[in-house]
Amino acid sequence: MTTERIYLDYNASTPIDPAVAAAMKPFLADHFGNPSSGHWAALPAKAALEKARGQVAALLGCGEDEVVFTSGGSEANNLALKGVCFARRDCGDHIITTRIEHPAIIEPCRFLERLGVQITYLPVDGFGRVDPDDLSRAITPRTILVSIMHANNEVGTIQPIEDCARIARGHGVLFHTDAAQSVGKIATDVNGLGVDLLSIAGHKLYAPKGVGVLFVRRGVLLEPLIHGAGHEGGRRAGTESALLAVGLGQACELARDLTSMDRVHALRDHFWSELQSRFGNRIALNGHPAHRLPNTLNVSFIGRVGAEILERLEGVAASTGSACHSERIKLSPVLEAMCVAPEMGMGAIRFSLGRGTTHEEIEAVVERLNVPLAVAS
Ligand SMILES: Cc1ncc(COP(=O)(O)O)c(C=O)c1O
Repeated sequence: MTTERIYLDYNASTPIDPAVAAAMKPFLADHFGNPSSGHWAALPAKAALEKARGQVAALLGCGEDEVVFTSGGSEANNLALKGVCFARRDCGDHIITTRIEHPAIIEPCRFLERLGVQITYLPVDGFGRVDPDDLSRAITPRTILVSIMHANNEVGTIQPIEDCARIARGHGVLFHTDAAQSVGKIATDVNGLGVDLLSIAGHKLYAPKGVGVLFVRRGVLLEPLIHGAGHEGGRRAGTESALLAVGLGQACELARDLTSMDRVHALRDHFWSELQSRFGNRIALNGHPAHRLPNTLNVSFIGRVGAEILERLEGVAASTGSACHSERIKLSPVLEAMCVAPEMGMGAIRFSLGRGTTHEEIEAVVERLNVPLAVAS
């Protein structure tokens, strides 16, 4: 008998929602026209692209002209960082970010450092939160951009974006947030957050992979990463994929209703309380107890190795926060920045729930965890 497969890695990627797939289908089968062409074949693609732009704008509470379609979250982040930096080199050469960003922020920052840009990586506390006072202290007259992620992909901690954005903009500094993990899970209204730039990754919100968005507030100048024809208001050249945009637009439409997250939130909390009653002080929570994505549960199995537990956790898809390099366990930079002790961090597993997660699946995972945790304990 094969063990039932259980997917608890929604922060890595989500399945495409059936309504999203249905909306995309005509653009696979029939509507192949180039949205920029001047004839009949362009019309369905052009109309769909603009409808999708409106759906994204409605979710973010922004104007349609402020939505730039990209190939995903990584491109949106690269466009925000490099685009601002290249457009504003005359105004300054200092960017502030944090130590817990996704590689899609950290690596473009490293690249910009090689070009002579100064980058400040703000620390976080033990829950993975930035202190807005640290941001205030880090801003200099040379600062051109602050980029702080909305919610962390590994531990789910939500940052005080409103406070940080207020501080940055109070100094006349642009503020970007990587919202790849928060869109569709918590409110992401760009005016509520007070941000100038915000990144979305389609495949984290039940849209396909290979599509994302950068929100660019009206008046913010960006140098494109991809030069070419004037697509996307001159901010990202390349014939737009109506197929992918339609998928993301439909996903954004669905994401406006966050009520499905209430069920996920309750299920996640039930999961945690079940683990606590089974394993007591052999486990610890990573991330903020309250300021945390409703679907994310990062648990340390103290003194154990997360990857080894996952290997024995038959049929369960989840992630670990540590990697084994030549017999040494290396904590993820996020857990390291949170000063999680090695014997805690090496046993970290990230479970991330989603719309498809059921109560039965959570019960089954708790049950299955008994097997690896009984070994050598
Ligand atoms: C916080 C965060 N930012 C950016 C990305 C990159 O998005 P994409 O895979 O669409 O390039 C991810 C994906 O894991 C992420 O979790």
